[in-house]
Amino acid sequence: MIKMRRYLYRACLVAVAAFLFASCGKKVVIDSYAIIPQPVKMELEKGSFTLSSSTRCYAGNIGQNDPSVKYISGRLRQWHFNPVLVGTPEANCLQLLINENYDAELGDEGYTIDVLKDGIVVAANTERGLFYGFQTLVQMLPEDIAENRYSKIQLPLCHIKDYPQYSWRGSHLDVSRHFFGVSQVKKHLDLMAHYKMNKFHWHLTDDHGWRVEIAKYPLLNDIGSWRVDRDDQPWGEADPAGEDEPRSNGGYYTKAEIEEIVNYAAERFIDIVPEIEIPGHCCAVLEAYPELACEGDDTTYTVQFGPYWPPRAILCGGSDSVMTFLKDIMDEIIPLFPYSYIHIGGDEAVKENWQRCPRCKKRMKELGLKDFEQLQSWMIVEIEKYVKGQGKNIIGWDEILDGGVSADATVMSWQGMRGGITAARRGNDVIMTPMEYCYFNFYQANADFQPPAMPNSLVTLHKVYSFDPVAGLHSAEQRRHVLGAQCNLWTEYINTPEMAEYMLLPRLCAMSEVLWSPQAVRQWESFRSRVARHCVRLVASDYRVGTGSFQPWMTLLKSDDGRLYAKLEWEVEGTHIYYHTGDGHFRRYTEPVEVKKGTTVTTLSFYNGVLKEKAYDFEVK
Ligand code: ACM
Ligand code: ZN
Repeated sequence: MIKMRRYLYRACLVAVAAFLFASCGKKVVIDSYAIIPQPVKMELEKGSFTLSSSTRCYAGNIGQNDPSVKYISGRLRQWHFNPVLVGTPEANCLQLLINENYDAELGDEGYTIDVLKDGIVVAANTERGLFYGFQTLVQMLPEDIAENRYSKIQLPLCHIKDYPQYSWRGSHLDVSRHFFGVSQVKKHLDLMAHYKMNKFHWHLTDDHGWRVEIAKYPLLNDIGSWRVDRDDQPWGEADPAGEDEPRSNGGYYTKAEIEEIVNYAAERFIDIVPEIEIPGHCCAVLEAYPELACEGDDTTYTVQFGPYWPPRAILCGGSDSVMTFLKDIMDEIIPLFPYSYIHIGGDEAVKENWQRCPRCKKRMKELGLKDFEQLQSWMIVEIEKYVKGQGKNIIGWDEILDGGVSADATVMSWQGMRGGITAARRGNDVIMTPMEYCYFNFYQANADFQPPAMPNSLVTLHKVYSFDPVAGLHSAEQRRHVLGAQCNLWTEYINTPEMAEYMLLPRLCAMSEVLWSPQAVRQWESFRSRVARHCVRLVASDYRVGTGSFQPWMTLLKSDDGRLYAKLEWEVEGTHIYYHTGDGHFRRYTEPVEVKKGTTVTTLSFYNGVLKEKAYDFEVK
């Protein structure tokens, strides 16, 4: 009897808990969508569909056990929806479909979404497309869905057809200057997936640490992965290392961890490009294996821990052991990374040591090379041949053009667009990542109002948004060689995961739209208000977000009757700009102001009542 009562008591508790669980969420009405990147076509219709805990999921021709379906239903369950999988489409259903007939306009990455009165249909030619469709669907849900429980979400009816402009939508992370662990790399990949970015360039080796386990050369990890800790000092002012000071800063990824991250990326349709720097940026290698430096180079290299310039450390170009070392490294790297590219660096290799080295000079004489750039080119082409033998292609920074480059190498243009333009004209594939648009280690706003970043640098959100990866290339044939672009996060000044996110966001949103959306649907004002909503979403999902720039800019408009008007614009929605035109009396800016040649427009920027910028003067010329 007592047992029976206990049983009834427990059953009641379970029923009450289930009732509370189902009913405790709020209802929310979505009145507009803010999707980044902006879809190619999107039409809203009158009417709505309500997503609720009773909405089912039909995975049609894909199958319930498919990894994409599992990923999608898993994400929905995180937000307390429980999309029971059903065997036939029914009313109040989220349908995930692979198209029976290949839709050529969508290609391999595109998708359609139809929010209909009785359900939602996401369809694509491939699982990759379906995954991107789901990322868009997530952005149609409330901005705070990661924090708040909703029982019902009322969505406006709409039809979306979407596909990308560029196939290479990359994001780079330097884990050498500062090491970021597995969980932070995964968080970076999540962010990339959310914004439909698909290439993760992993900068694994540099002067400040070697970050991947190599069995054949254990000192790369025992010595080359560790340095003295100066994270309590500004990067540019690091004290010298004390004698016998412990090496407590650093780390590396074991092969098992690399495999875990590669798989995690693959589930998100992200390819990983590992970068192994050749022949420069190698202090970590040379401290571990000093015999790989040039003969007669009496410098003692240590794993660096602050600014290191010029980067003189270089692998000897005349040493057979260096070539053996590099091929051995490739033998261990290649099996870890299934994607078809290996990045071999090639940037900023100062060749002073080569000029003094008898081995380097001997090699040049033997091969009939006329300068040291050609010696670097020879090394890179040798490694390229080696990795090609194992089915891989190389990517190198634009310096690989200097001594001559093979026809198959892909050039990553970082010193402006010039290298990329030259390479595309020669017929090489190109990835654009010019510093002035793509270096997210640069300040995103006036340095006086920001945590320390790369000195004398500024890449605002608006600047990123204005980037055109094929600017300066006029023929369709040359443009076809531009696979796309990427943003780079060098981490000299970035020593915490929080700072990495702060520098990446929201500029990653702009890069994603530049690379995915056609010019015809890219519109700054619209992006600016969408990005404000994304910042809310990102913060709710536990990401740190940069403040953006509060520096306004001015354009002059001319009316038909010849009058001049100053139009002021700014980056962060909600900024209030005050201005005066010489009388010192500040007024709130609301619309273009009539001005005359010679007038100076002076501005102040406020956000939430706080002064956010110095005064700027704009001359009307
Ligand atoms: C680079 O920024 N040195 C590629
Ligand atoms: Zn040498």
